[in-house]
Amino acid sequence: MRIIDLPKILDPRGNLTFLQNNAQIPFEIKRTYWIYDVPGGEERGSHALKSTEEIIIALSGSFDVTIHDGKKEHCISLNRSYKGIYVPPMHWRKINNFSTNSVALVIASTFFDNNDYLRDFDEFISQTKV
Ligand code: TYD
Repeated sequence: MRIIDLPKILDPRGNLTFLQNNAQIPFEIKRTYWIYDVPGGEERGSHALKSTEEIIIALSGSFDVTIHDGKKEHCISLNRSYKGIYVPPMHWRKINNFSTNSVALVIASTFFDNNDYLRDFDEFISQTKV
């Protein structure tokens, strides 16, 4: 897990940030999705992905990302659209504390595959010990 600082093109007309395959992003992008209209108090995620790498960006608003590597848990608040969190495979992650109108953009290294998910935390912990 690490924070990725994305390029920021400051402009009096409004700022611009970008990311490109294999440049700011340490993998080839296969998919993007975004989470929005999250009701207050709701939580998303709460799973690990066996082989997918992801970058999570707070495109708008703020939320907290909690990442467990099998041993330790880290919680990071995201509230800048030029900061991303890189989540490696086999890391449990949940997203909560969404502010009103926040948008979480996720960049992923794989096409969607339900078989890549681990949705049981105890199973995740036991697999990290293998
Ligand atoms: P999921 O990743 O399980 O979200 P969360 O862990 O926050 O509950 O996705 C929710 C649903 O959306 C699930 O039925 C699978 C579907 N989905 C896709 O079809 N494609 C995608 O790229 C993603 C991320 C989810």
